[in-house]
Amino acid sequence: MRCFYRAWPPGYVAHEMSLPQSEFWLAFDGDNEIGYLHFWVVADQASLLSMAVVPELQRRGFGRALMAFLETRLADLGCSELQLEVRVGNAAARSLYGELAFVEVGRRTGYYSDTGEDAVLMSKALDSGSTAE
Ligand SMILES: CC(C)(COP(=O)(O)OP(=O)(O)OC[C@H]1O[C@@H](n2cnc3c(N)ncnc32)[C@H](O)[C@@H]1OP(=O)(O)O)[C@@H](O)C(=O)NCCC(=O)NCCS
Repeated sequence: MRCFYRAWPPGYVAHEMSLPQSEFWLAFDGDNEIGYLHFWVVADQASLLSMAVVPELQRRGFGRALMAFLETRLADLGCSELQLEVRVGNAAARSLYGELAFVEVGRRTGYYSDTGEDAVLMSKALDSGSTAE
């Protein structure tokens, strides 16, 4: 996946996929990759660890569609809250999450070791899985 300037370390995806709380979802159009989601679910709490849309397909609604899929999946799993962290300077992602009614619930100063950037912690209450048909 070509969305971040640092590649995942060798073995990272295989390790994550071995964890019961971890889910990866990849979106394709035929053989062409569109984007992905990676999240954890522990009890009724979900954490979005990473998501991206390939650069040439950004700003066409795929990010919004991935997030809509995520919320449906989490409702099916009975999650009541989705949390995430985003770089303070990531205007695209912060705009997307803000549009989807995530609220800022905290900050971690200097959280990202590569740039020293702060992390913005965001959260959204979800419809419980008990309401999903
Ligand atoms: C964040 C990301 C997933 C958004 O995906 P996308 O497919 O481009 O997003 P969408 O086309 O669905 O856009 C939905 C909304 O997000 C916001 N948005 C998306 N890209 C934006 C940009 N470059 N600048 C400002 N707002 C942006 C807008 O509000 C947009 O709605 P609009 O197009 O109606 O104005 C994508 O930019 C990406 O993969 N970035 C690199 C990886 C990354 O930062 N992941 C998030 C880490 S927490």
